[in-house]
Amino acid sequence: MRKPFVAGNWKMNTDSYTSVELAERIASGAMEAAASGSVTVVVCPPFVYLQSVTKALSASSIGVGAQDVYYEPKGAFTGEISPSMLKDIGCTYCLCGHSERRHVIGETDELINKKVTASIVGGLLPILCVGELLSEREASQTNVVVTRHLKNGLAGLSAEKVSAVTIAYEPVWAIGTGLTATPQQAQEVHNFIRKLLGQMYNDQLAEEIRILYGGSAKPNNAAELMGQPDIDGLLVGGASLKADDFLAIIQTAM
Ligand code: PGA
Repeated sequence: MRKPFVAGNWKMNTDSYTSVELAERIASGAMEAAASGSVTVVVCPPFVYLQSVTKALSASSIGVGAQDVYYEPKGAFTGEISPSMLKDIGCTYCLCGHSERRHVIGETDELINKKVTASIVGGLLPILCVGELLSEREASQTNVVVTRHLKNGLAGLSAEKVSAVTIAYEPVWAIGTGLTATPQQAQEVHNFIRKLLGQMYNDQLAEEIRILYGGSAKPNNAAELMGQPDIDGLLVGGASLKADDFLAIIQTAM
């Protein structure tokens, strides 16, 4: 049985005060979920607020993730943050290959693969994001793109290492647009991803790995999305900035 997983990606939002306030509201509202241990809950604040948010959540079982990471352990890499630095301040997870990093910042599959690999080696749990652009969906290229993101993103990793990874399927056209993939559209791709992971590794890994959906997930569509057999949770952007909405989504995952 895969444990449901709800992650909030705060992107470049909040400030030193509102990040801690949001974390505290989520922690107190999610007490029941945390106590029952029935849902994995993670928030991904901006780098500069990771430490204060980690502190605010220390008494809860809510995990903290970074939105990005660099692949070198240390050295002359101005502006970058290493996996060991993230571990040092209590981070457990990190997003790798989010569509905004791919399409706004210009990250390649090769760079993302290095980040996933370095995260695992450094003891973090990466959430590898994959997903197609609208033009790619319209050209019936969804499976091709997802296959490329998965195979390149996980290149060189053994099944044992990949068991540390969570996959997030995020169709780019659904991110921040209010357009959600229908539960059927999302399920189709999730099922494709699971089968592909079975071929790339083994059936047990495919059965156990968690695959999240992301893209305009909200309290009013969360239950139907998570009700699909291959959707194990949600990676939530906009709605994770409102404590009540994020808590409502966690509630549906319980
Ligand atoms: P959204 O973002 O929920 O605001 O669409 C999801 C994401 O980018 O992870």
